[in-house]
Amino acid sequence: MNFSKFGQKFTQPTGISQLMDDLGDALKSDQPVNMLGGGNPARIEAVNELFLQTYQALGSDGIFDKKGSDKEAADGTASTAITSMSNYSNPQGDAAFIDALVGFFNRHYDWNLSADNIALTNGSQNAFFYLFNLFGGAFTDEQNQSIDKSILLPLAPEYIGYSDVHVDGQHFAAVLPHIDEVTHDGEAGFFKYRVDFEALENLPALVEGRIGAICCSRPTNPTGNVLTDEEMSRLADIAKRYEVPLIIDNAYGMPFPNIIYSDAHLNWDTNTILCFSLSKIGLPGVRTGIIVAAPEVISAVSSMNAVVNLAPTRFGAALATPLVKDDRIKQLSDEAIKPFYQQQANTAVRLLKEALGDYPLSIHKPEGAIFLWLWFKDLPVTTLELYEILKEKGTLIVPSQYFFPGIDVDNYKHAHECIRMSIAADEQTLIDGIKVIGDVVRELYDKSLVK
Ligand SMILES: Cc1ncc(COP(=O)(O)O)c(C=O)c1O
Repeated sequence: MNFSKFGQKFTQPTGISQLMDDLGDALKSDQPVNMLGGGNPARIEAVNELFLQTYQALGSDGIFDKKGSDKEAADGTASTAITSMSNYSNPQGDAAFIDALVGFFNRHYDWNLSADNIALTNGSQNAFFYLFNLFGGAFTDEQNQSIDKSILLPLAPEYIGYSDVHVDGQHFAAVLPHIDEVTHDGEAGFFKYRVDFEALENLPALVEGRIGAICCSRPTNPTGNVLTDEEMSRLADIAKRYEVPLIIDNAYGMPFPNIIYSDAHLNWDTNTILCFSLSKIGLPGVRTGIIVAAPEVISAVSSMNAVVNLAPTRFGAALATPLVKDDRIKQLSDEAIKPFYQQQANTAVRLLKEALGDYPLSIHKPEGAIFLWLWFKDLPVTTLELYEILKEKGTLIVPSQYFFPGIDVDNYKHAHECIRMSIAADEQTLIDGIKVIGDVVRELYDKSLVK
């Protein structure tokens, strides 16, 4: 069959498609697999319990057997749950959820939002597809000349899911990090990535006006890094100076799911595009993303929603609305989700230190998200090769080379020396998986005598 250029671009094998295939195969396999790859959130009892209760309450509202209009819902003559399944929302997204979010954000932050500042998408991945194509790719400048603009990732490594979203080619510029040795809970053997502002501010693409937006995930997938408030404020200043938006991917950030252990604050202004998701609170299947931005951006996203989806899905919105209205989503994040992952990170770090403490393992300081990022300095094989060996032995991780959109990884050794491991698995899987990683990595170093 003959596919268009667009078709060819979106059907070629990519880092993310390989990852998704391996995860899918592992879930189908009858062999036990230590699943430390992938980005699925953990099953947390208190979280599932609350979602189940909320779901049941929606069901008993007659979600599927009565019909009402959005106007009736707004007037209080039909419940949101009833209307939400039986009508499309407008392309901006479920109005009741958007109103609940406006109230929620204005209660917790001094952002002074209105409904014109929020749009919903089918997951935040869908939001990045829109935003990166809105701000990256071919532009026409004031002289009517065509100019190609990129999305600037100020700190590589970054989220694998960004890499292939452009409809035509790849439009990223990225800056390699400063790598600082740091301690964690008083222990050595950790590092932290920091933005190299000198390199960033001298980047030809930025200086010459070939950047369309700046974007970072905070906490960062894959590293668990949390850019400091100072780094964020410098990025916000640079974005304003160059008149491009600063996109903050808050999939793991505050106030929900709040998987963030360092001292950090969240700011928003009209030059910032904040992206939230219901996935990491435990609802990846409902595919609900939330964008907080200036009305102009919200209106563009709504138009794209209309073309691509007619309207975004309403199920996640219906489920989350009551939790957002009375702040239970925040309480759940603070009291169940965040402590769970912090405990998981501590367990995984302890197991890794026990397995590889005498070897050249350095761990990115765990500051948030649901991953640990491990650096095996001078490992005698690439981590893509390590990934294959571990897969053979029934343990799945993700090799680092996929997490450098915008970087020529062929000329950057560090990009082949790290792995991302998920900490969302149960404790036994962490124990078994880390044992396999430890055995394999020790053997590789021992054979090469570079220990
Ligand atoms: C940093 C980051 N951003 C965005 C996403 C996309 O999430 P979703 O589309 O489920 O909202 C993920 C998923 O793993 C992620 O890790």
